Amino acid sequence: MTPQIHNISFPVTEPGALDQDQAYFYLRENGEQVRLRFHDYAEIYRRPGLYEQLFYQRLRCISPRKAHDVLEKVLKDNHVELSSLRVLDLGAGNGMVGELLDAARVIGVDIVEEARAACERDRPHAYDAYYVTDMSRLDAATAAEMKRWQIDCLTCIAALGFGDIPVPAFAQAFNLVQDGGWTVFNLKETFLHESDRSGFSRLVKGLLVSDILEVHHLERYRHRLSIDGRPLFYYVLVGRKRGDIPPGMVRA
Ligand SMILES: C[S@@+](CC[C@H](N)C(=O)[O-])C[C@H]1O[C@@H](n2cnc3c(N)ncnc32)[C@H](O)[C@@H]1O
Repeated sequence: MTPQIHNISFPVTEPGALDQDQAYFYLRENGEQVRLRFHDYAEIYRRPGLYEQLFYQRLRCISPRKAHDVLEKVLKDNHVELSSLRVLDLGAGNGMVGELLDAARVIGVDIVEEARAACERDRPHAYDAYYVTDMSRLDAATAAEMKRWQIDCLTCIAALGFGDIPVPAFAQAFNLVQDGGWTVFNLKETFLHESDRSGFSRLVKGLLVSDILEVHHLERYRHRLSIDGRPLFYYVLVGRKRGDIPPGMVRA
């Protein structure tokens, strides 16, 4: 099937005028112009190929591949096979990360039903199971079911902060990982700036100097371009879990 080509255009804005969570674009379809925010995930996933065309072709996002490659390198250095791990992919979307993971089990979770539907439509092979739930409000039955997967690796790519995955959701997923398990996630570079006092920034800075996370790899790289063509730099972190995130470290 030939993928649908969408007619995407970006607004004229002053450089840096829009925060990442305010960014939007126009879509011309059926003779009409639709305005969509980057965070209108349900609308984006509903249109086959739009997510890929917007973030991966136009805005040159490289993060799923980058995360996969650094995770694989760290695992190799530690004599661990990715194919032996049971991965939870938090903020799985339409499966861009899941499809790269040649792991024993890959479990996806996303808050948006349209994400699962898009994944089933476009990458039905990516996950062994896909949960639609808000990880910050995980019910006991789903938590118990997720625990039965015996997760020993958490991936969370292009999904932390900026109105996406909040601190309690990340902590919940992190705490499902068995001690000694692995994690790879990325975050905008400003989260590590001293001036950033957001809950997520505090959590990550706390983890970096804690006994909870053993950091194996921290690298600054170009995640993607902004709508005005500027590079957006992120850090990718690979670490090994050494304990749970305690409630005191979790602030939304
Ligand atoms: C930018 S997408 C990233 C998708 C994919 N990881 C990728 O790299 O292409 C962020 C995803 O996080 C999901 N998300 C946001 N808040 C969430 C929550 N509380 N629990 C689970 N998923 C959430 C969104 O629905 C969205 O699909």
